[in-house]
Amino acid sequence: MTHGDMTVQEITKVQELIYTTRVEDVMATDVIIVDPSMTVADVRALMKEKHISGAPVAENRKIVGIVTMTDIIRAMEEGMLYEPVTTAMTTQVKTVLKDSVVAEVANSLGIKGFSRLPVVDHDGMLVGIVTTGTLIKSLLRQMDRSFQKNEAEKLHTYRASHIFQDIVSDDTSLLLRFVVDDKDFSNAGKASSMIKRALQRLVVNPQIVRRVAVAVYEAEMNLVIHTDVGGEILVDIRKDKLSISAVDHGPGIKDLKQVLQPGYSTAPEWIRDMGFGAGMGLANIKRVSDMMKLISEPGGGTRLDLVFNLDHSQ
Ligand SMILES: Nc1ncnc2c1ncn2[C@@H]1O[C@H](COP(=O)(O)OP(=O)(O)OP(=O)(O)O)[C@@H](O)[C@H]1O
Ligand SMILES: [Mg+2]
Repeated sequence: MTHGDMTVQEITKVQELIYTTRVEDVMATDVIIVDPSMTVADVRALMKEKHISGAPVAENRKIVGIVTMTDIIRAMEEGMLYEPVTTAMTTQVKTVLKDSVVAEVANSLGIKGFSRLPVVDHDGMLVGIVTTGTLIKSLLRQMDRSFQKNEAEKLHTYRASHIFQDIVSDDTSLLLRFVVDDKDFSNAGKASSMIKRALQRLVVNPQIVRRVAVAVYEAEMNLVIHTDVGGEILVDIRKDKLSISAVDHGPGIKDLKQVLQPGYSTAPEWIRDMGFGAGMGLANIKRVSDMMKLISEPGGGTRLDLVFNLDHSQ
């Protein structure tokens, strides 16, 4: 997915949210209300104290007007500081029903230029207020929540444990291929750890995963240590078994019986200094796998085939 697609998706998400979220869910309910008995001076003091620039004027939650800083300033200029606020307020109040969708509010707040909208219930009683600030804050919170949900779902789809049941065919298999370079110790072990992760995602029995990891690691190290040009590891995952092959093109093995002896190694000194070359790799592979076959010819390549039976009793 490109970044362009992502932006389109995000915008769609916001649009979806404003058309599905109800005003009731984004409004602030702790509304600062101006009582009609207050003077313009009282309201000015209240606004200063509460850090607000406007408030609905209501009596027992029944809205009679709305007063903003602009109204207050105008009243002060006209010398009406000690007059009742009802003389300075706007009586035509645009309100919004608590169960309308946010899109309606966004329209009024954005295009019509209102900075706050009193929210009323079906009896016209004040139940809350929406401002651009509360709106943005709650939309962001909801986007965050839906983003987290999305992440969790993505993680869920990674669990491909039912892939073999879901794909209907006579013989479904998943083939993984990893190239292993010779003498590349910085990447040694990468193929086996990737194979291990793939099997874990497929929810293969953890014990089998461990055995496979050991075998593939040894096979991978043999490609790194003993070959001229590296090789590749192929993993064929089927419903009932795993077939793994480590293949290379040289230098080949002279005596197959000999190399299978535990403790036999042709690893040079510098390899032994790195902790390899105990001559235990192939013995370990034989021990952990259900079937092992080593084919090689001196001067030619070597092929190591392994099979692991997958246990489906659990
Ligand atoms: N792909 C290969 N190509 C050529 N020779 C190999 C290959 N794999 C193994 N051998 C030969 O088989 C011997 C035994 O391998 P094995 O993995 O059992 O032990 P090792 O690699 O020498 O030591 P360890 O695996 O304990 O670090 C090696 O020393 C090497 O001579
Ligand atoms: Mg080895």
